[in-house]
Amino acid sequence: MDSKIQGVLDAYHEMIDKERGSPRMEAPGGRDGGQDTRMRAVGPRTGQLLNILAASLPSPTILELGTSFGYSGIWLAEAARASGGRLITMELHGYKSEFARDMATRAGLADVIDFRVGDAVEMIKQLNVGIDFILVDLWKDLYLPCLEAFYPKLNPGAIIVADNMLRPGDDNVTAYGEAIRRKPGISSVLLPVGSGIEISRYEP
Ligand SMILES: C[S@@+](CC[C@H](N)C(=O)[O-])C[C@H]1O[C@@H](n2cnc3c(N)ncnc32)[C@H](O)[C@@H]1O
Repeated sequence: MDSKIQGVLDAYHEMIDKERGSPRMEAPGGRDGGQDTRMRAVGPRTGQLLNILAASLPSPTILELGTSFGYSGIWLAEAARASGGRLITMELHGYKSEFARDMATRAGLADVIDFRVGDAVEMIKQLNVGIDFILVDLWKDLYLPCLEAFYPKLNPGAIIVADNMLRPGDDNVTAYGEAIRRKPGISSVLLPVGSGIEISRYEP
């Protein structure tokens, strides 16, 4: 990891520690209203694992669903740059995407990232490239609609990582885990890293 990237990761780690040490506050106006300032970031262990997995693919097109303030994107973009690939990252809110772009610029990684703002489910349908790696990390009720949208766009050998999968009683993540295992060509495993990640691979 070069020093500019490490400096940006260190800044994010301070923000993550502060957020995890504070009481949870609902965003004013609900989850998509007002100025939601919570990062809800994947955390360093999951970030490192994403980086290792994505960097193992040759010139991958990486898709991130849920940019938020850009933490996981730094790990993914570093892997993209190291392996000659690129990152497309999707976020509903422009102000979060702008923050993420500023941090990526500080890290020297903005040139490998395509920041897209809008509803990921709709934007996935409009993608005209095959996908080699996906991080699924947006609102949980969107995991299943996103799966249906991105599955036809997977390249052979694609890896899909879904975060927040160890949430007992959350029907949305249970439904995603079951649905992706039923898809032809998918093998999948649930790992207790961070808040639980489902790692799936597509080999038709
Ligand atoms: C858990 S956070 C992502 C955290 C980020 N991956 C990280 O580790 O730094 C989920 C994000 O998904 C975004 N989101 C929610 N619905 C969305 C949608 N329909 N399309 C795109 N992004 C959405 C939220 O605004 C939020 O910023």
